[in-house]
Amino acid sequence: METVLVAGGAGFLGSHLCDKLLKEGYSVVCVDNFLTSSLENISHLRDNKSFSSINHDICEPLKLDFKVTHVFHLASPASPNHHSKISYHSLPLETMLANTTGTLELLKFAEKNNAKFLFASSSEVYGDPLEHPQKEEYRGNVSTTGPRSIYDESKRFGETITAYFSRNKKLDTKIARIFNTYGPRMMKEDMRMIIIFITQALRGEPITIFGDGSQTRSLCFVEDTVLGLVRLMFGDGTKGEVVNIGSGEEHTVLEFAELVKKLTVSSSEIIFSEKLPEDDPIRRKPDISKAKTLLDWEPKVPLEEGLLKTIQYFKN
Ligand SMILES: NC(=O)c1ccc[n+]([C@@H]2O[C@H](COP(=O)([O-])OP(=O)(O)OC[C@H]3O[C@@H](n4cnc5c(N)ncnc54)[C@H](O)[C@@H]3O)[C@@H](O)[C@H]2O)c1
Repeated sequence: METVLVAGGAGFLGSHLCDKLLKEGYSVVCVDNFLTSSLENISHLRDNKSFSSINHDICEPLKLDFKVTHVFHLASPASPNHHSKISYHSLPLETMLANTTGTLELLKFAEKNNAKFLFASSSEVYGDPLEHPQKEEYRGNVSTTGPRSIYDESKRFGETITAYFSRNKKLDTKIARIFNTYGPRMMKEDMRMIIIFITQALRGEPITIFGDGSQTRSLCFVEDTVLGLVRLMFGDGTKGEVVNIGSGEEHTVLEFAELVKKLTVSSSEIIFSEKLPEDDPIRRKPDISKAKTLLDWEPKVPLEEGLLKTIQYFKN
């Protein structure tokens, strides 16, 4: 049986990826230091003989007494919300190191194992994009010193070092540029837009929007994103490829707020409270034609269905 290592496997995306890989018959090793997640996300896998979990900081060298065939690197804080205690603003050094030193350590580990390697990059490498939708060839509009640079630039360096191992060391690597994903197991403390809207609506509190709500986002349900990551890792002809994984369905932030209000049957009013955070992108939408051709992949879960599943999770 092939053994797959998932760094960040206790996180939101990582835990769903572990579930999917186990379902497909792989043996899975989760490596996580629980910096931005809780053990709860993987507690249902405790008695699964094909699953094991190691508490480890990926910035330290990783030594295992068995071989793995694939390494997914999803270990990094991901929330952009300034008010969240687990956002990359609250964990700046941890974020920069996880995507740089952490990526290097996992690449060295993959090289020793001759394992395939996938780096979870982000749409944030495009910064505040000047091209819409964003194709993989687009080089981005990113500030090296702005508040989001902690995340954006460390992801960009993570890509650089991954590409170096591909080019110079002939490692089989893949880079997934993941766009906003939502779904069950997102942490409340994470405070990403959709979680805030859902929790506010469920409590009957005002739903707060930064700015005038005309900025757009494209949200992909976690099940779809995870399938994209699996196809990129295991698919034929994906060696060395960089692929956008996300939804091409663009909505304004106000539309998301209105939909959440409708689906939660909430009496909350929608209010426009603060100005947009500095460097907050105005538009974000992937061009996913490469994923469609290369991976035969595109998001399948309709927005309302995904939102209802997420709302149910937060209700529970
Ligand atoms: N969720 C999204 O919308 C999205 C979008 C773009 C990119 N991504 C990327 O996907 C990956 C997963 O994101 P997520 O939303 O699941 O975030 P998450 O915070 O839920 O999961 C990240 C996991 O990594 C772990 N971790 C962090 N630093 C670590 C370290 N040094 N050593 C070991 N474990 C560490 C955390 O404890 C957590 O379990 C991240 O790399 C993120 O940048 C996510």
